[in-house]
Amino acid sequence: MGYLMSILIILLGIAIIKLVLISIFFYADIRAAQKKDPAAKSFLEIILLYPGLHALIYYRIAHVFYKVHLFFLARLLSQVARFFTGIEIHPGARIGKRFFIDHGFGVVIGETTIIGDDVLLYQGSTLGGTGIVKGKRHPTIGNNVVVGAGAKVLGNIVIGDNSYIGANAVVVKDVPPNSTVVGVPGRITKQDGKKMDVSLDHVHILDPIMQTIEELQDRVKNLEKK
Ligand SMILES: CC(C)(COP(=O)(O)OP(=O)(O)OC[C@H]1O[C@@H](n2cnc3c(N)ncnc32)[C@H](O)[C@@H]1OP(=O)(O)O)[C@@H](O)C(=O)NCCC(=O)NCCS
Repeated sequence: MGYLMSILIILLGIAIIKLVLISIFFYADIRAAQKKDPAAKSFLEIILLYPGLHALIYYRIAHVFYKVHLFFLARLLSQVARFFTGIEIHPGARIGKRFFIDHGFGVVIGETTIIGDDVLLYQGSTLGGTGIVKGKRHPTIGNNVVVGAGAKVLGNIVIGDNSYIGANAVVVKDVPPNSTVVGVPGRITKQDGKKMDVSLDHVHILDPIMQTIEELQDRVKNLEKK
């Protein structure tokens, strides 16, 4: 009985030390979670129950292993994190300060992704590549960017600071700072606080060849009816 009691006390001690260490080393990330999730009630709740924070802790350790070329160990840790949290962050990715993944399940962050400070990702978002080429093939996300639930940001593109990627958007082109992007493929609906007139959006202008083909199809249909 005394033996069991001492094991319990040791385990409790380890748990308390773990909590203290996480609170010290991840203070900024925990505060970010508290700020960005209105449902977060307490520091302890975030430390114990937020998969986004757990995935980040695993990632920060795995990234150290990756940097010293212990690739297998790094990848192993990232897969353990994926098993427990449903979030897959490649240990080679570079992630800034005060990063928060809300809800988390289904988030994928590729190897050559670079993420700035104060970024928020929602569940199901992907920062991925578009092919099998080596080298930088994942996005660079600026500071203070929000990537909505289910959004896909693909390829070696840059998402400017303070931008919002709408839920379920698919973004495959650079996005200037202070923009809001929605839809598939992503189109800019707001920039610097002003709504964009889609007819003046020269970046996302309609494909003229496709337009001509559609017009011809309509004409053929009308002629067939006649
Ligand atoms: C993209 C987003 C940031 C836009 O916010 P906003 O600047 O306030 O924009 P608005 O709500 O004024 O919408 C602007 C236009 O885009 C449309 N729109 C907004 N979000 C959209 C989306 N995800 N996909 C497609 N269209 C969208 C609106 O219907 C509106 O269209 P309209 O001008 O034809 O009426 C927001 O809608 C969004 O998707 N946030 C992600 C939040 C999220 O993932 N939450 C998960 C919580 S669990």
